[in-house]
Amino acid sequence: MTSTLVTGVSELVTNDPEVGDGSALGLLTGAAVICEDGLIGWVGSAADAPAADERVDLGARAVIPGVVDSHSHLVFAGDRSAEFAARMAGIPYDGGGIATTVHATREASDASLRELIAARVAEMRAQGTTTVEIKGGYGLSVADESRALRLAGEFTDEVTFLGAHVVPSGVDRASYLELVCGPMLAACAPLARWVDVFCEPASAHAFDGAEARAVLLAGRAAGLELRVHGNQLALGPGVQLAVELGAASVDHCTYLSASDVAALAAGSTVATLLPGVEFATRSPYPDGRALLAAGVTLALASDCNPGTCYSSSMPLMIALAVREMGLTPAEALWAATAGGARALRRDDIGVLAVGNRADLAVIDGPSYLHLAYRPGVPITRALELG
Ligand code: NIG
Ligand code: FE
Repeated sequence: MTSTLVTGVSELVTNDPEVGDGSALGLLTGAAVICEDGLIGWVGSAADAPAADERVDLGARAVIPGVVDSHSHLVFAGDRSAEFAARMAGIPYDGGGIATTVHATREASDASLRELIAARVAEMRAQGTTTVEIKGGYGLSVADESRALRLAGEFTDEVTFLGAHVVPSGVDRASYLELVCGPMLAACAPLARWVDVFCEPASAHAFDGAEARAVLLAGRAAGLELRVHGNQLALGPGVQLAVELGAASVDHCTYLSASDVAALAAGSTVATLLPGVEFATRSPYPDGRALLAAGVTLALASDCNPGTCYSSSMPLMIALAVREMGLTPAEALWAATAGGARALRRDDIGVLAVGNRADLAVIDGPSYLHLAYRPGVPITRALELG
């Protein structure tokens, strides 16, 4: 067993309100952390740090919990930059472009998909993300969805079955739903922790409330836990369905009614906001401030995907949430770390406390405030130890 003392920490965000300044971020200045075999062994003031086998001096930089990106679609091939350009010229997003990615992904070899996922995960780590959830959803056949989840599982434990992403072209809705809830689920459930569905009202591509309920209940019966893409394109049933079924998270929440907000506040489902999607689809940003005021637990995630947000940058999501959703820098950082952990029902990450995973990210700056203060500047990275 090797222990490493991480010191030279100007400011440490622990997300443990029991330590430091007593805020939700549990801020300590002049701090140190001891990591032992991948776990946190000690956290406190540098002056009190016990001895360790090795020492890493960060030279007066801020340290935060490794960022938790609880929503991404990294298993894809192909390019949709022209679709982005068209959207910036006024063509709205409706999910129709997903078919382009399905075609390119089906054509790609296992080796090339693996390389693409590896590059995207490395890009994330280089920006501070230490845990990422990865969905399928660009295969839409039994063989292609199970392949996507097998490949995703090489990179994360947080694998999500999203056969119900869209109805593939040329396939009738009812038979596709039967396939998703039957043979596709049977092949994919052993490879996944989660089931997800793209739920929108009366969409040509996504699934309505009744269809989404059927997918989620079938997934639960197969042993999967629930998450939902809801209320991205319009007001609709996704949020309330997610809360009613006790989903871990409902993601997007771009369009929310007062009763959606009340349901989220009363329930246990985390609302995961994806500000990169509003950015890259020219959609209105949801009011994060109002959600917090209502008592809703928020997470922030990238949704990194080729259609609605081809960015893996959680620091960008934090900056957008602060600038466009009314969150304070502290609330945005909490949502991107502890909030993401809650959205994944994980208590071993997101909080720097003894016994938790030693997932740390370091900022080239004296304070976590630099995440939102220096948008677009590559100052945040996962801390590589040993
Ligand atoms: O989370 N909304 C559904 N799925 C993705 C986008 C998929 C795509 O356009 O390729 C999302 O925004
Ligand atoms: Fe998504």
